[in-house]
Amino acid sequence: MKRLVSGIQPTGQLTLGNYIGAIKQFVALQNELEETEFFIFIADLHAITTPQDKTTLRKAIKGVAALYVACGLDPEKVNLFIQSEIPEHANLGYIMESTAYVGEMERMTQYKDKRLKQSDGIRTSLLTYPTLMAADILLYDADIVPIGDDQKQHLELTRNLAERFNHLYGNTFVVPEGFYPKTGARIKSLVDPTKKMSKSDDNQKAYILLLDEINVIKNKIKSAVTDSDRTIRYDVKEKAGISNLLTIYASLTDQSIKSIVKQYEGKSYAEFKADLADIVADTIEPIQKRYQALIHDPVLDDILDKGRQRASEIARKKMVKVYKRVGLGRIKS
Ligand code: TYM
Repeated sequence: MKRLVSGIQPTGQLTLGNYIGAIKQFVALQNELEETEFFIFIADLHAITTPQDKTTLRKAIKGVAALYVACGLDPEKVNLFIQSEIPEHANLGYIMESTAYVGEMERMTQYKDKRLKQSDGIRTSLLTYPTLMAADILLYDADIVPIGDDQKQHLELTRNLAERFNHLYGNTFVVPEGFYPKTGARIKSLVDPTKKMSKSDDNQKAYILLLDEINVIKNKIKSAVTDSDRTIRYDVKEKAGISNLLTIYASLTDQSIKSIVKQYEGKSYAEFKADLADIVADTIEPIQKRYQALIHDPVLDDILDKGRQRASEIARKKMVKVYKRVGLGRIKS
């Protein structure tokens, strides 16, 4: 039996980028992959690498859980759980800190970007964050990790740490493979299509939230920045805006970019954007309906309890093995 692991941070609300780059893949893989156990979690420990309001964080944790299910994750097939409810993540995180070098952490581009935004000081965990992410993955001996492009560097580090640990202490961890969507691994900002679509963007028009009102979503697509040329074609360098919209279109309709370009030959940007606005709205509206029905339903707690139980079983056993390998604690006689 193989294992698949991935997670999302409950910071702010989830965006269309999170959906296309991550959740949509989870759902597709859940239906495609056989002989694979899924572990999808809410990475709440990662959230506190930057300051959070505790009431908002608590709400966001439940919100991500509800969105996972509303987007189509089947709790019968997938173990859904909250990272902080499995203490072994932090335990193995420390072991990974003791495997990684400071220089490696300082080279992470996400750290270099995020540190610039910390006005009240940079938390140590912002620097060590990728070691916790490595722990999240290695704890379950994941074979496959579906993620967007922006997490690639962290996954490469995870692979290096697994290999280093295995070399130092004997074969202990599976070296995981990243899995990236064919289209949509990096959805761009609707305002500045050279940047990633990010929930932490200062400009709300830059991103689409899965819980934005439907007419707001449509307007954001319609007012997305494009160039002054009139042809609809894919060219990331010269036509970053329209290329990003083509990527969103292709991803949500499971069509190739080539066939969409053909379909819109001779048509205007306005027509294309109006159609895309409908496509995005038609994708998100049913998700929102399911989300509203779920968010206050006690079944969500049952799902998270069940996920925690299974995750915990594996995590506990794995940590015993890791401590033994490293020489920590006592050997039981
Ligand atoms: P996070 O919470 O920033 O993002 C969650 C997932 O969404 C993807 N993503 C995007 N994909 C395409 N286009 C975008 N604009 C876009 N924005 C975000 C991310 O690549 C990610 O797959 N460190 C992780 C969470 C994490 C994790 C893990 C993931 C913690 N432990 C273990 C996998 C395995 C993060 O901050 O993702």
